[in-house]
Amino acid sequence: MSPLSTSAPGVRQAAFRFRCIACGTLNDSASQDFRCAHCGDLLEITYPRWKEASPDAAKLKSTWRNRRLSLEPIDQSGVWRFRDLLPALESGQQAITLGEGNTPLYELPQCARITGVPRLFAKHQGLNPTGSFKDAGMTVAATFARLAGFRWVACASTGNTSASMAAYAARGGLRSLVLVPDGKISWSKLSQALDYGAVTCQLRTDFDGCLRLLQQLVLRAPVYQLNSINPFRLEGQKTLALELLEQLDWQPPDHIIVPGGNLGNSSAIGKALGEMHGLGLISRLPKLSVIQAEGANALVRTLREAGGKRLVSVQAETRATAVRIGNPASWKKAVNVLEATSGACEQVTEIEIAQAKAEIGAEGIGCEPASAVTLAGLKKLLKQGFVKPEESVILVLTGNLLKDPDFTLGFHRGDLFRGTPDESASARLDPWRRPPIVLDATLDAVIRTLEQAEKS
Ligand code: F0G
Repeated sequence: MSPLSTSAPGVRQAAFRFRCIACGTLNDSASQDFRCAHCGDLLEITYPRWKEASPDAAKLKSTWRNRRLSLEPIDQSGVWRFRDLLPALESGQQAITLGEGNTPLYELPQCARITGVPRLFAKHQGLNPTGSFKDAGMTVAATFARLAGFRWVACASTGNTSASMAAYAARGGLRSLVLVPDGKISWSKLSQALDYGAVTCQLRTDFDGCLRLLQQLVLRAPVYQLNSINPFRLEGQKTLALELLEQLDWQPPDHIIVPGGNLGNSSAIGKALGEMHGLGLISRLPKLSVIQAEGANALVRTLREAGGKRLVSVQAETRATAVRIGNPASWKKAVNVLEATSGACEQVTEIEIAQAKAEIGAEGIGCEPASAVTLAGLKKLLKQGFVKPEESVILVLTGNLLKDPDFTLGFHRGDLFRGTPDESASARLDPWRRPPIVLDATLDAVIRTLEQAEKS
């Protein structure tokens, strides 16, 4: 099986290397499981040339700004626009792109009032081509899969990775194999993978079981793994932070808050912050905090019970199915990022997630449940005094509202928590519920409804 080498055809030699995050071993190629040949830990991509000749920060900023005016597909991508800090391509035509990135930074005036944090913003990665932040990583990793000569790409997923991978594979003329936990992902994410032509296997296990199987599969079959263990994914996802800082005119916010599942995204954002700081693009590091669902809180427990030294796995259970992960692959990278940026790690309940999701929805932007953990987490961090009301806060919304309509409908109809231990506590969510109203098709009935709504 061919190694995933930087000397593969079409990739410029030695523009980047793989480095083991534990033993630091450097290599020009990586094995198919993207693990260090010496110690078995995860790899990251590093750019030795930056040491010899660090890119000029002011020049980078103006290059990236100027590319916004270009009509070239590679420049119109909000990921490849920042290609100076990504693994190098020989030509722009090599990139498999759907015009990803370029996502808005929204003010959240209502959530700002609710939390008492006036400078509160959302970076909405749910407005990517397939509706989640995964597209930023997938454009890079799928491109390098094709450059390395693979015909098949594969992933284990709670839904969004598979949707994204299937789309980029289809655009790049690759075949894709999806492993998802049977019955545990939202129908809309599953339908995306089907529509984009993936071979989709619903396995009778959870996400962690799917990922375990995938890691064995890539050692046996010539398929290229596109989970976030793949360091090219994280390089693409770094651009979320680059674009965010550009939108803030390179003035770092005090806090960035991100949901944590398999912990690839927090690792990618943390890597980007470190690199931006190192290259002089920003003058100080924002604190990056990771929020998990209480029922899928492996990182929280890893920090509290093991001081971040070993992974404490959990049997994950949450309605925020995107983060229903008990054995996060990138836990060590995430621990390093929390330490480097002095960030916090917290957990939130199912009720807190549902309320936060409704509050974000009421802003007119919406998100999927896993994204709403950020607002719920912010409330907790404020109570603890970790975030101060006068500080600036960015919530990273990772997925689109339309990713999980069952959750939203269940919430507004009032049956989301029926038959669960949260049923009675869920009464506190009533003020946010907007159930659909079934009426006779008469003008009177509609006018009466309008008048009642005006009073409420
Ligand atoms: N938010 C959403 C909407 C997600 O889909 C995921 C992960 C996360 C947050 C957590 O990000 O894993 O980088 O810590 N979804 C993966 C998937 C695992 O298969 O779609 P993470």
